[in-house]
Amino acid sequence: MSVSIDELFSKIYQTAGNCGYQIYVVGGYVRDKLLGKEVKDIDFVVVGDAMVFADRLKKDLHLKRIIRYPRFGTFMACYYNYKLEFVNAREESYQQDSRKPVTKQADLLADLSRRDFTINTLAMEISPEKYGRIIDVYNGKKDLKKKIIRTPLEPVHTFSDDPLRMLRAIRFATRLNFSIEKSTYDSIFETRDRLKIISQERITDELTKIIMSPKPSRGFIMLDETGLLDIILPEMTAMKGIEQRKQYHHKDVFYHTLEVLDNVAQKSGSLKLRLAALFHDIGKPRTKRFDEEIGWTFHGHEVVGYRMAGAILKRLKFSTEIIKYVQKIVGLHLRPMALVNEEVTDSAVRRLIFQAGNDLDDLILLCRADITSKNINRVKKFIKNYDNVVKKIHNVEERDRIRNFQPPVDGLEIMKLFNLKEGPLIGKIKKYLEEAILNGNVPNDHDACISLLQEQKEQLLM
Ligand code: CTP
Repeated sequence: MSVSIDELFSKIYQTAGNCGYQIYVVGGYVRDKLLGKEVKDIDFVVVGDAMVFADRLKKDLHLKRIIRYPRFGTFMACYYNYKLEFVNAREESYQQDSRKPVTKQADLLADLSRRDFTINTLAMEISPEKYGRIIDVYNGKKDLKKKIIRTPLEPVHTFSDDPLRMLRAIRFATRLNFSIEKSTYDSIFETRDRLKIISQERITDELTKIIMSPKPSRGFIMLDETGLLDIILPEMTAMKGIEQRKQYHHKDVFYHTLEVLDNVAQKSGSLKLRLAALFHDIGKPRTKRFDEEIGWTFHGHEVVGYRMAGAILKRLKFSTEIIKYVQKIVGLHLRPMALVNEEVTDSAVRRLIFQAGNDLDDLILLCRADITSKNINRVKKFIKNYDNVVKKIHNVEERDRIRNFQPPVDGLEIMKLFNLKEGPLIGKIKKYLEEAILNGNVPNDHDACISLLQEQKEQLLM
């Protein structure tokens, strides 16, 4: 069951009319429609009391649930597969030190003037007489055509009203592949410190949208140029700068990272893998040393990076699941290359398979994306190396079924076998078995493991 967009608008318009209110579609829906995209998230402006309108709409559309925010004069509802958001025509601004906006009622034009960008100030009529007509007070259509992000009022004013908009400007520019008009862009730099009053959750939400864009590097370059990156992720700006000394130099880690991120973004829509790309070399600035013989080195950057990625992602309020995943990939990102060597033992391969578990394919994808050399021969060599590593992994996997493996003898069986009670010794014996399998001392097989335990009984129980 569904309802057409025209039917939906007609029903909503009728209810507004019964209340004696005017209603318009605004923002993202209108913008995206003009860009040729039909979206299901629709924002409406109600010139009237949105809470009274909410009650009438609930009845008229038989809505099961609506979520109201009376303080902000907004409410949300789902209808078939549409996500509808209604807001009182209002003026809204943030006070100097507060995270909560102050709102007051206004008419449609005042409401539009307080919106973030000209392309988002477009409103659409849904009355039967003027259906589909666009109200364009700030030349939003022209900016859409010219692919420009520009504030409708003085940019400092618009950004002071809600400093999150500085990030939104960069997010829209990145996602839509638009550029930011110069005075708007310059104002972000001037106003950047105001971002500090915005909650981390809202900041992270925008950052996530930038990371999930088709070419996230564009967003990070803008974040850097406007000084916002230094506020949100100073650990990333620390990756900037090419070091040169004598004939030695290493690539700017910041731009290398952005290239890796874009490479991953071309292959995968996974947020956590893109985050792993963003942070894979985050430990480099802190581990950078100069060696007269070999040039710049970053020994242990994956270990430092593991810790830093954990702390940063926690600060950004990402979930524990995402933090653990990113840490794991960052911590392991040098390992596949170390398996290239001809003499690498099966046991080293087995260990990586076991440690990476289900994330092994992601790890390899990141490693391939990490090849950013401009030297075609080097690139070819690296690709071939990874192909060989993947072959080795497949061979060992086929033989040993090691990914996500659980030792074939569990704690209960160990307790029975040695007549033991629960306790730390059981864990120790399990670990011994796990190591023996990974080292290839015993096959990943139940009976073989039992025999090994029996053989080693005395030593294990010592
Ligand atoms: N808006 C604003 N300032 C903000 C947030 C939103 O002026 N800080 C206005 C804009 O007019 C925007 C509309 O509210 O178009 C709806 O906001 P939102 O749903 O966040 O963005 P959309 O433009 O719909 O875009 P998207 O759904 O892609 O985020």
